[in-house]
Amino acid sequence: MKRIVILISGRGSNMQAIQQACTQETWDARVAAVISSRGDAPGLDIARAQGIATAVVEQREYPERESFDAALMQAVDAHAPDLLLLAGFMRILTTAFVHHYDGRLLNIHPSLLPAFAGLHTHSRVIAAGCKLSGATVHFVTPEVDHGPIIAQAVVPVLPGDTEATLAARVLAREHVLYPRAVRWWLQGLLRVEHRVVVHQHGESQLLK
Ligand code: GRF
Repeated sequence: MKRIVILISGRGSNMQAIQQACTQETWDARVAAVISSRGDAPGLDIARAQGIATAVVEQREYPERESFDAALMQAVDAHAPDLLLLAGFMRILTTAFVHHYDGRLLNIHPSLLPAFAGLHTHSRVIAAGCKLSGATVHFVTPEVDHGPIIAQAVVPVLPGDTEATLAARVLAREHVLYPRAVRWWLQGLLRVEHRVVVHQHGESQLLK
C-alpha cells in the first residue's frame, strides 16, 4: 500500500477531496500524514477528525528557506511517503527539497498553467478579461508553477464574476481533478516524455 503525505497551509479542501477519493475508491494507498506550515490551518482539524496523523512545521520559526525546508523534509520523511502532495501549501520550496522528491511531488494550481502562475490568480484572470480559466495539476520542479502538466480542468469566466465566485467555480473542479491525477500516479499510468506527461491508457487529461 502506497503512502501519501499532504502539505497544506490553510483550508485543506483539496486534501479532504483526496482523502475521500482514497477511501471511497479504495485506492491501494493511504494518507499517512498531513503536514502544515501553519499551526492554525483549519485543514489540520479536518485531518485529525479523519484519524490522519498531523504535524506542523511552523514557517514563522524558520526565517531561512533552507532551514525550513530541512525541518520540513525531516517531518515528511518520518512518514516515508511514496508520494508527496502540495495542496494549498503556501511556501516556495528550495531546489534541494524539490529534487529530493523528484517524480513524486505534485501540486495543484488554480489556473491554466503556464498562464497565471503565482499568487492572486483569479483577480488577475478577471482583470485580463479571460473567458476561460481552470486548474492544473503538475509535477513540481524548482521553477514555481512550471512543472510538467498532468491534467487540467477548464471553467468559464462569467460576466460579473468576482474573485470569490470564480475561485469557487474553479475549486469545485479542483476537487475532481486532483484526486484523479493522484490516482493515475498511484496506478503508474503517467509517463513524462520531453516534459510532456502522457497517460498510458490515453485517458483524457482535460477535464471539461
Ligand atoms: C486551491 O485553490 C489550490 O489550487 C491553491 O490553493 C487553494 C487551496 O485550497 N494552490 P484548499 O486549502 O485545498 O482548500
